Amino acid sequence: MKKILVTGGAGYIGAHTIIRLAGSGYEPVILDNFSNTDERVLKGLREILGRDVTLYRVNCTDREALDDVFRRERPDGVIHFAAYKAVAESVAEPLRYYHNNLLSLIHLLACMEVHGCHDLVFSSSCTVYGQPKQNPVTEQTPRLPANAPYGRTKQMGEDIITDFCAAHPDFRCALLRYFNPVGAHESGLIGELPYGVPGNLVPFLTQVAAGVRSELVVFGNDYGTSDGSCIRDYIHVMDLAEAHVAALGYIRSGNPGCAIFNLGQGLGHSVLDVIKTFTDVTGVKVSYRIGDRRPGDVEQIWADVALASQELRWKTTRTLSDALRDAWNWQVRLISESHSG
Ligand code: WQD
Repeated sequence: MKKILVTGGAGYIGAHTIIRLAGSGYEPVILDNFSNTDERVLKGLREILGRDVTLYRVNCTDREALDDVFRRERPDGVIHFAAYKAVAESVAEPLRYYHNNLLSLIHLLACMEVHGCHDLVFSSSCTVYGQPKQNPVTEQTPRLPANAPYGRTKQMGEDIITDFCAAHPDFRCALLRYFNPVGAHESGLIGELPYGVPGNLVPFLTQVAAGVRSELVVFGNDYGTSDGSCIRDYIHVMDLAEAHVAALGYIRSGNPGCAIFNLGQGLGHSVLDVIKTFTDVTGVKVSYRIGDRRPGDVEQIWADVALASQELRWKTTRTLSDALRDAWNWQVRLISESHSG
């Protein structure tokens, strides 16, 4: 069975991908420093998979510790999720972001080279496009200067991997540009665990719906969109997880070099659409008000997913409604767990 090292494998997208890897004949190994997740993810994975997943509590910036994991596990491939990802935080703490996100990647590539591991799936982001001049964006849409250090670490990460691939023809990589991951596994046993005040729309929305927070602020309704609020491409996290397995299969079927794929629904929804859809799906009203624009937000972006559909033979099968239903199911479970202590 092919062993896949999943850095950040206890994180939001990582944990959902672990489920699909295990279900697709791979043996996943989790490597995580638990800086942005917690033990309950392991409990949820155990309940879903019926077994424990091999786990290393390691920081990817620790080259020796990373090397030791490669020596012990000798993985056939790597999916690299481990990175800090809060846009606003990256503006306040750029050095912490460059150190963590770039040094982790550089150490990982060096370890892969030393240990003869040639297959990498890399977690990138639509943020590399900045504010596109037109939508939907394809993989050929020029990258524009990112709005924050977080986005720059993703652009630099893509460049580091591209250069590494050019110098190592036997290396095979897929750079996956996520749009907006939302939702949770249908069991409600794992989901998004935002620490502190959620930066992203959907976890904040579900916390307002659950009464954890009093009100959602819509960051601006004076944009050039149909209802004035920003448009994004929301993709169910399980569809995203399945895309990672498809990307692994794509590179392992002998496609050398570095391939880039947009991973989204291929649909744009406004913030106000999301709020309305949430209430339509759950019957729960969400208290919100219109506030100022959030610095750094792009007005609208959604994906052209033709390349992933054609090359990865993958497409989303879940809707925004499915994602919001599953996000709410997860939030309700979180609340009931906190009440039961
Ligand atoms: C979505 C929309 C906000 C919160 C970022 C990163 C991206 C990825 C996902 C890591 C925007 C609006 C939000 C709120 C609001 N990160 N909003 N009130 O900014 O599109 O993407 O997170 O993988 O790389 O760039 O996601 O969920 O923060 O915002 O009105 O309380 O919701 O203005 O239009 P974003 P988001």
